[in-house]
Amino acid sequence: MKETVLVTGGAGYIGSHTTVELIGAGYDVVIVDNLSNSEFGAVEGVRKITGVEVPFEQVDCTDKEAMARIFDKYKFNSIIHFAASKAVGESVDKPLLYYRNNLQSLITILELMRDKGVRNIVFSSSCTVYGQPEVLPVTEQTPRQSAQSPYGNTKQICEDILRDTVHAYPAIYGIALRYFNPIGAHPSALIGELPKGVPMNLVPFITQTAAGLRECLSVFGDDYDTPDGSAVRDYIDVTDLARAHVVAVDRMTGGKSKGNYEFFNVGTGKGLSVLELIAEFEKATGVKVNHKIVGRRAGDIEKIWADTSFANRELGWKAQRSTGETLLSAWNWEKRLRGIK
Ligand code: NAD
Ligand code: WQD
Repeated sequence: MKETVLVTGGAGYIGSHTTVELIGAGYDVVIVDNLSNSEFGAVEGVRKITGVEVPFEQVDCTDKEAMARIFDKYKFNSIIHFAASKAVGESVDKPLLYYRNNLQSLITILELMRDKGVRNIVFSSSCTVYGQPEVLPVTEQTPRQSAQSPYGNTKQICEDILRDTVHAYPAIYGIALRYFNPIGAHPSALIGELPKGVPMNLVPFITQTAAGLRECLSVFGDDYDTPDGSAVRDYIDVTDLARAHVVAVDRMTGGKSKGNYEFFNVGTGKGLSVLELIAEFEKATGVKVNHKIVGRRAGDIEKIWADTSFANRELGWKAQRSTGETLLSAWNWEKRLRGIK
């Protein structure tokens, strides 16, 4: 019989791509999302790509009664918990919203797992927990640093909640995946990233500038201690990232976890500067990106990329898509959104 996975935040950017990969790997999926930062169209896109009428429940994960009904209605033994608020800047202005949404949704799910005997959870963490590391690349042993934002703090606290919960209730198994910078879209261009308003993240800003929605991309800083002076990140393709969730669920359902709580870096292992990424985009798409250098963005770190050898070895997972392919997929998604041929 097929195993079912509950995907919270499954209408969102990473959740929708992960649902596609889970179905491709033979899992059934139930999506729960309150659509606070997504649209039902993403679920339709997932259904179109997979040909499966994936069940969708518009429910808030902080609503324990409603979530209890989901646990009773569907039989599942694994959860991937994406649902969270994720805008770093907004979290500084609205810390209580972030602490309430991100902490309460995880706590609600863990309480229900304990009470209803659900075993496995994958949690969306972030490389933000490392801050600016002294030694690069970062391994899972690199110490976490005190968070730069309430959002980042919720990721650290949620990791700790998960660790402490599985320790107290050893019937529960948890894996935290620390994503580096997810970019790109499904090759079908039926799902992708849907930023609200002016994009804060680099790639949506690049694609919107290329599409003519934004006049000029501001490159935040060219005086960092990096080869070309612009900041360096590890950009991970969203479909590669989605596959990492499938192998994490496989690991837990297959009884291969080494301990109740594990955490992995999910990146490419390669750092790219802002200017390099723009150049890659232009090469892959043949479209020029109007850009100018401006001052550094407050709160930005200089450089970070992952050591992925632990995930490669333990999960048998490795990023595969080239940056060029990924950027082309982001562009195809933007073109489809804007009706550009
Ligand atoms: P997203 O906003 O596209 O997806 C999150 C989804 O969760 C949205 O569809 C939103 O409507 C839903 N949601 C939020 N709160 C909810 C609640 N209380 N109940 C039900 N649904 C709720 O974001 P994403 O980029 O897909 O991120 C998914 C996860 O990965 C988040 O936990 C995020 O913090 C984490 N993450 C993202 C990045 C990134 O750069 N995109 C990097 C590291 C970690
Ligand atoms: C990437 C690089 C910018 C926009 C954020 C969160 C982090 C994680 C991922 C969730 C940086 C530069 C950007 C622009 C630019 N999210 N940039 N011009 O800041 O690495 O990480 O998203 O966990 O927590 O902080 O990603 O895409 O915003 O920026 O020059 O218009 O692009 O300065 O160097 P970031 P990003």
